[in-house]
Amino acid sequence: MNSWARSDLRELDIEQINLSWTERELPQRLRTKHVHGLHPYLGKFIPQLAEIFLRYYFKPGQRVLDPFVGSGTTLVEANILGIHSVGIDISEFNCFLSRVKTAKYDLMLLRKEIFNILERVKQTVSPQFSLQLQLIPSIQEKTAEYIAANEYLERWYAPQARLELLTYRSLIPEYEYQDVLKVILSRAARSARQVPHYELDWPKEPVREPYYCHKHKRICYPVTEALKFLERYSYDVYRRIRAFQTIRKEEVEVRVIHGDARTVPLEGQFDGILTSPPYVGLIDYHEQHRYAYELLGLKDLSHLEIGPLSEGQSERAKASYVQDMVEVFRNLLPYIRESGVIIFIVNDKFGLYDEIISTAGLRLEKRITRQVNRRTGRRSSEFGEDILIMRKGD
Ligand SMILES: C[S@@+](CC[C@H](N)C(=O)[O-])C[C@H]1O[C@@H](n2cnc3c(N)ncnc32)[C@H](O)[C@@H]1O
Repeated sequence: MNSWARSDLRELDIEQINLSWTERELPQRLRTKHVHGLHPYLGKFIPQLAEIFLRYYFKPGQRVLDPFVGSGTTLVEANILGIHSVGIDISEFNCFLSRVKTAKYDLMLLRKEIFNILERVKQTVSPQFSLQLQLIPSIQEKTAEYIAANEYLERWYAPQARLELLTYRSLIPEYEYQDVLKVILSRAARSARQVPHYELDWPKEPVREPYYCHKHKRICYPVTEALKFLERYSYDVYRRIRAFQTIRKEEVEVRVIHGDARTVPLEGQFDGILTSPPYVGLIDYHEQHRYAYELLGLKDLSHLEIGPLSEGQSERAKASYVQDMVEVFRNLLPYIRESGVIIFIVNDKFGLYDEIISTAGLRLEKRITRQVNRRTGRRSSEFGEDILIMRKGD
């Protein structure tokens, strides 16, 4: 039986539990089940890993903190297990995605809104309507003004795709579940960029002509519209939210705070931390969702990211990382109970955590290494990941 599905998990020694699953044992479909697959996010940890550590170290009714909440994996899994949770993240997009995943919905209303806005966009951008649009100079001017004002949209989208995305965006304020509609819009905006299929994560230059696609091994064509993505993701997002609503526990606290883990004030006490922190010079967490920042006008706090990609992996960058993580602990430890557990899932390839742990006045109880077997297209690789189980006091 797969380890995450065992009911007697707590009777085992955590080191005996298999955490190095193969693609066959834990396929993508299960790793991205229900709301975990709501929107692409680079740097996510897999929900089954969060589930195991929550079940092993926490009990229903307790409270867990994730100071680097990312796309909200810990919060979703904690809720299912009846564990209260609070997440912090410096990226506004990540906070908003985590909130959308964990919120409570009136499914009838949600469905009505998702498909109503889609229908209205379809009608608005249809050729007949576009013709009428030409007769309404105020709308035309407004759209043109916005397109001209935003360099990013002009650079990465075909005119038709831009019009469809902006039309959708302009209607969002008329609905109750605006954040869900924004997720659908962001996801469509990601897919509708004029980028080669093999560079969806970190595109370098827009493509305007047919190109040889390394991913599909054939000639592919740049995207010219956004509507088909808005439609596809409307169905997908609704289906995923509906699936999570059937297992979501209502009486359990879920809170998301947009802030810096080094300085943000918290309330109350926690039974522990479960998180996967940023590492040194690996991922630009704001940049990966640039389209959403531009379209939704979100606040960019990338200068406060810990271990920013822009600083690289130099000795100076590593020293700043150590100092920043010590500050995170200084800020958060007063909110953790004396008996609390602190679990960090991180590929500590530069061996920085020994120093962080001792400077922060923590004790390393266990270091478990699991093999990560990633088999997705060009990013296929195998590497070790450390799971650090820490306690307060040295
Ligand atoms: C490895 S990711 C977490 C992924 C998460 N476990 C998940 O499954 O989606 C690290 C997160 O730390 C956030 N982060 C970076 N610097 C931060 C800071 N100073 N305060 C709070 N969050 C920060 C990034 O925005 C990113 O979302």
